[in-house]
Amino acid sequence: MDQYLVFGNPIAQSKSPLIHSMFAQQTGQELQYARMLAVKEDFIEHLETFFSNPLAQGCNITAPFKELAAQWVDELSSGAQLAGAINTIKRQPNGRFFGETTDGPGLVQDLLRLGIALKNKRILLLGAGGAARGVLKPLLSEEPSLLLVANRTAEKAQVLASLLPSEILEGCGFDALTSYTQPFDLIINSTSASLSGDLPAIADSVIAASDCVYDMSYSDKPTVFMQHASLLGVENVYDGLGMLVGQAAESFILWRGVRPLVEPVIQSLRANL
Ligand code: ATR
Repeated sequence: MDQYLVFGNPIAQSKSPLIHSMFAQQTGQELQYARMLAVKEDFIEHLETFFSNPLAQGCNITAPFKELAAQWVDELSSGAQLAGAINTIKRQPNGRFFGETTDGPGLVQDLLRLGIALKNKRILLLGAGGAARGVLKPLLSEEPSLLLVANRTAEKAQVLASLLPSEILEGCGFDALTSYTQPFDLIINSTSASLSGDLPAIADSVIAASDCVYDMSYSDKPTVFMQHASLLGVENVYDGLGMLVGQAAESFILWRGVRPLVEPVIQSLRANL
């Protein structure tokens, strides 16, 4: 049977084995999907041992190995080249290893699933770390009228925005946000602030004027950012559970050539958070 796994540290919490086994069951695909803990020093060794098994067809990579994995593969998608990081490896028929980042497509799929329009909309992306970098290109492909990257450290947002030649892509610090007088249709929080229960320090007026807030984090209850946005009167507030399932679906399609249904999987995960 074809073998897959996810590498990370920590990894015990990973929902990928569960998600992929649900996808496999749903689509009638025969595969096994496991998880493996690694440390930076032995990650490549583990990766090579895994792929020395001819049944090993692909793997997912989560923090902190996404950059190392991107350096290891033979080929990178254009999105992965920009991100400098991958979450998916596929063994190709010619034996070469292909690296892809499905986080961005997973996010876009989830936004569209939720009925959030992107074309000609003004999008504010909070954060300029690895998570933001991975979603820039797929968001731009949806042709918003503006994609503004705002970060606590302004310079990082400006550097990120300069990576892609696009007139609709801009970067700034949190302080500069109030000078954008037109409201944002969608605010996406890609900062790691939610993980530590912190709020990105942006003006309440910027959040309150928005139609929709999406936090790329998720937990068993709304994140602090979601709670804050709801208190400020934002009507449409979502977490990133659907993005998690969406990125897994994009990996599954790359490996198996079949699109699984995400909705039942999201519902099942939500019920068990
Ligand atoms: P990830 O891969 O999750 O994006 P990262 O590359 O370490 O992780 O980036 C973390 C991002 O969250 C950065 O944009 C960081 O802002 P700085 O560049 O200014 O450090 C942002 N971040 C983390 N904690 C934050 C907080 N409490 N408030 C605002 N931004 C925060």
